[in-house]
Amino acid sequence: MNYKIALIPGDGIGPEIVKEAVKVLDRAGEKFGFSLDYTKLLMGGASIDVHGIPLTDETVALAKSSDAVLMGSIGGDAKTSPWYQLEPSKRPEAGLLKIRKELNLFANLRPAYLYDELKAACPLRDEIIGNGFDMMIMRELTGGLYFGERKTFEENGIKKAIDTLTYDENEIRRIAKRGFDIAMKRRKKVTSVDKANVLDSSRLWRSVVEEVAKDYPEVTLEHMLVDNCAMQLVKDPGQFDVILTENMFGDILSDEASMVTGSIGMLSSASLNETKFGLYEPSHGSAPDIAGKDIANPIATILSAAMMLRFSLDLDQAADAVEQAVKQVLKDGYRTGDIMSEGCIQVGCTKMGDLIAERI
Ligand code: IPM
Ligand code: MG
Repeated sequence: MNYKIALIPGDGIGPEIVKEAVKVLDRAGEKFGFSLDYTKLLMGGASIDVHGIPLTDETVALAKSSDAVLMGSIGGDAKTSPWYQLEPSKRPEAGLLKIRKELNLFANLRPAYLYDELKAACPLRDEIIGNGFDMMIMRELTGGLYFGERKTFEENGIKKAIDTLTYDENEIRRIAKRGFDIAMKRRKKVTSVDKANVLDSSRLWRSVVEEVAKDYPEVTLEHMLVDNCAMQLVKDPGQFDVILTENMFGDILSDEASMVTGSIGMLSSASLNETKFGLYEPSHGSAPDIAGKDIANPIATILSAAMMLRFSLDLDQAADAVEQAVKQVLKDGYRTGDIMSEGCIQVGCTKMGDLIAERI
């Protein structure tokens, strides 16, 4: 089989980590008898430099015509990069929001789990870590504050800004179903996170989630307020299986969840629409400070590529093999700088890609 993959290397460390993911994918293809044709697309700062805007309509069309999109990361240093002199709608992040919306990628899956081999990197105490944790954050990605009406204006000589948080029941229903579906394949628990003690949008969220839950009698549903959830993530992360939440809460909680694993360089993500199509990217950012030094950790991107094989291309065996190869490389003691600990062998980005590809 041959598949068409749109590649968005992006900015900062993006190009280096995507290169290693391609290396691993091609090796998996040789081994499992499939091939991938890549079309490189510009987005974020890389697109601004060429086209003056972070995402062109042609790029969107090319992404749409592929089987899946694999992305590195976008954005630069907001203090020093000229991209941030532009108005907000022309900055790198606007490209990311536009592609999410245009491709209708409403379901954002962000796994956060503790690798046995990396327990030393976890900032939580041993008694809190217990037997480890393994959660999936299901973040709504095309609604809420990110896409509501916003404006900045002046009223009676006073500057004012407004952002609006809107959800309709259909948007909530489709993401809730995704959350319960994934829970059925895991430990069958959904924690729906909202701020229903204050927000109308959260009260609607809660009632629609309860309605959807009726179709999943095997799944235990609990509701949790977002502030409490932020606390519980550092108090008892093992309690979570699937965290189902709206866009902004998911943005914040997923950073927190990835930090408690101690290894943000390891965490993948998938953004899916109603079909098999998806965009896959590491959970971390573009780390402009270490770009071009061959020291970035490519594992999150490699694991995102594995998610792509599984969810968009139905190549489960190959996905398993990539994930196994990552585990093996850690067992064999290789580490990039961000996850380095005593007694291990420190390697760079390219070498890490080689070592993982060799183990497939
Ligand atoms: C993320 C990022 C983006 C977001 C930014 C870069 C716009 O933080 O994917 O979590 O807020 O969604
Ligand atoms: Mg974020």
